[in-house]
Amino acid sequence: MITSNQTSPTSPVNPVISLLEKNYSNNLESDYTEKIEELDKNFNYDSNSSAYWSESEHSLLYGTPLYEQASQSQKFALNHLHWTLFYKLTADSETELIHYNTVTADCLMSVSSDYKMLVELLAHETAQERKHIHTFYQVNYQTTKSLLGKKALINSGSDKVSLSSQKSYQLSDYLSSAANFITMMMLKNKEQSHSENFGEVKDVNKPASFASNGFFNGLSGKSAPSRRQFFSDNWRSYPFLAANFFAVRYMANLALKNHEFGIHQYYRKLQKNNEFIASPTTISHYHFLDEAFHTTTSLFLGRDFYKTLPKPSTYEKLIANLAILQAQHENLNAISGISSNRFLSDSNAIVFIMKLLQSPVFNMSKEEALQWIEKCLCHEHEGFHVNLKVHNHLLSDLRKFANQLDYLWPVNRNMSVMASGASIGKAIKNNIKAFNQFSLAL
Ligand SMILES: [Fe+2]
Ligand SMILES: [Fe+2]
Repeated sequence: MITSNQTSPTSPVNPVISLLEKNYSNNLESDYTEKIEELDKNFNYDSNSSAYWSESEHSLLYGTPLYEQASQSQKFALNHLHWTLFYKLTADSETELIHYNTVTADCLMSVSSDYKMLVELLAHETAQERKHIHTFYQVNYQTTKSLLGKKALINSGSDKVSLSSQKSYQLSDYLSSAANFITMMMLKNKEQSHSENFGEVKDVNKPASFASNGFFNGLSGKSAPSRRQFFSDNWRSYPFLAANFFAVRYMANLALKNHEFGIHQYYRKLQKNNEFIASPTTISHYHFLDEAFHTTTSLFLGRDFYKTLPKPSTYEKLIANLAILQAQHENLNAISGISSNRFLSDSNAIVFIMKLLQSPVFNMSKEEALQWIEKCLCHEHEGFHVNLKVHNHLLSDLRKFANQLDYLWPVNRNMSVMASGASIGKAIKNNIKAFNQFSLAL
């Protein structure tokens, strides 16, 4: 509930705000965004096409039998496409942040005008995201066009094309159904429960942009627009839930860091050895550094700031738990054999892999492509093991964080949805089902 009379910050100054102020001033003094902009302006795919942009295990289809027999130029292509797909999802998540940073900043301002610094900090981070997004699109556009041809740019998000009835994990499905049910029940009462609180939040009727499928709307692409609107309305209306949004944002920051730290280390290795560094590697390196400020903001707001607010109501605790549950379910519910840092089923990526194998990179016939998809998705190989290792590292980081939030249900504190997806056997079983469906539908 917005109760500004109860929540005026106490004197001396709220310590969380002092830490955030320091983080903001460090960010303002840095020039990483400017360096990224420069790389964006000068990017040319041809000048970067004959080098790895990250370690080879950060390549699409790494560890599969197809990767083993791929030529050097195909290996470069798979490495570059892995970069573009990762930053397509990152750009989608950051597009969503432009909306959520703004509405949660409005909500926090409604608590106390002393939190004006937070609004400025979040506006600055949002401006940085806009520049990051532009750069990712620039690299992705040129790379995709060069490797897959102009046709691939139409529906370039086809890695999310869903096959019907992809039922995978019982626990995840059960929890998702429960979350859906409760959310729908809440939606029925939305008008009534918000009416008393919206008055102090600006732009309450501003429509949210829900076209993207980033971390907040759900990478799986299966979350319904009504559910997205529901969480958006709640995060913007209750200070406790605005702080909870930053717990979800911290989960996204950790997922990004879990992969990007590897590219940052790769950059350092090349630099130390005086070797050629491709522009996208340098972009990742500076993005990693820029995002460190955002990660700190998320941590202080998501983990500490809510403790300075009045105790949450039962309703607020319920919504906060549903938000974390949704973040697990929509982004982290499985493992993959085609990408080291994909934590969703490969079933939704079959259409994209089919296009890739029939593109100029591999030039396969339909029959050949199908045979290779079966070999890569439906049998155990090193790619699944690499993914599982990366998955477990992220799971452990997320659990460490979740353990510090006293309002979480055990399913969120233990990241049980994510943990239940960590099985190569389940992933392959699910892929076989999806592959059979796909080949029958062709
Ligand atoms: Fe960013
Ligand atoms: Fe960020």
